[in-house]
Amino acid sequence: MDFHQYLEARRAEIEAALAAALPSPPACPASVARAMLYSLTAGGKRLRPVLCLASAEAVGGDPAQAMPAACALEFIHTYSLIHDDLPAMDNDTMRRGRPTLHVVAGEGMAILAGDALLTEAFALLAREPVTTDPAIVARKVRVIGVVAGAAGAAGMVGGQALDLAASEPEHAGTPAFEADALRAMHAKKTGALIRAAASAGAIMGGADDTVIARVDAAAAELGLAFQIVDDVLDVEGAAATLGKTPGKDATAGKPTYAALYGIDEARRMAAACIDRADALLAEAGIGHSRLSEIGRWIVNRSH
Ligand code: IPE
Ligand code: IPE
Ligand code: MG
Ligand code: MG
Ligand code: MG
Repeated sequence: MDFHQYLEARRAEIEAALAAALPSPPACPASVARAMLYSLTAGGKRLRPVLCLASAEAVGGDPAQAMPAACALEFIHTYSLIHDDLPAMDNDTMRRGRPTLHVVAGEGMAILAGDALLTEAFALLAREPVTTDPAIVARKVRVIGVVAGAAGAAGMVGGQALDLAASEPEHAGTPAFEADALRAMHAKKTGALIRAAASAGAIMGGADDTVIARVDAAAAELGLAFQIVDDVLDVEGAAATLGKTPGKDATAGKPTYAALYGIDEARRMAAACIDRADALLAEAGIGHSRLSEIGRWIVNRSH
């Protein structure tokens, strides 16, 4: 199977699992069910769940064991996008090729749908895989901790807080961030969930701690590369391909790799991240897995 076929096959499984994992009426109001599905099923790339499954597979595990974590991470990622787009944050009107949720359902419902997706992620992690096997239960508990840490104040939310502070009007047009601070912000706002996806896959796949640590370190490189390319595409991309409005970072005076280093150097830096990720995967003895192909996808993507 070539990588494209692999991606399509994994995505089909993920789409089915995502739809099945959310509550629906009468258990929850139709309004919030509709709002969650509007954003979730709008056609994201599913990078995080694919990475999670590929990681379980790379360490010799059963990807089905990692599917709940894969879906939980996509729920959390989708919540982060809904809130990222709110007027109080990036104030974006287009996402995944559709009007943003707050545009169609109002800010209140967008906040609630995000809250619900975050919470449902942990309900799913606690519930599945259904097992009484103590070894699998221990993996589940470990994954809950990893995902919570990545989503919270020391992870994605923390990164978004740094982004918010750096985007205040008094910073517009000035290089508010030095290189280290920018890398640290990207590591949190985007890297944390991508690391959690790969680590959760390795944990559910039954890897030992050394391999989990190397997969995690490789995924940190993938996460940084991913946000560097996101910054570049905000400059170079077209709305029709991106599914979101380009050019917003410069307008908002956001600190980005494109702004700090220029497009060519930013792209070189993303490619260097992927090389470092490959070296770490090789050290873990899984250098020729789908994880390397995911790295190449991250830097070569056009949306
Ligand atoms: C966009 O993430 C937000 C960032 C963290 C850069 P994706 O580019 O993965 O968005 P979708 O899921 O494909 O819509
Ligand atoms: C968002 O970064 C990271 C999140 C945690 C959602 P961006 O603000 O650059 O993401 P886009 O470009 O709106 O997708
Ligand atoms: Mg943002
Ligand atoms: Mg944004
Ligand atoms: Mg962006």
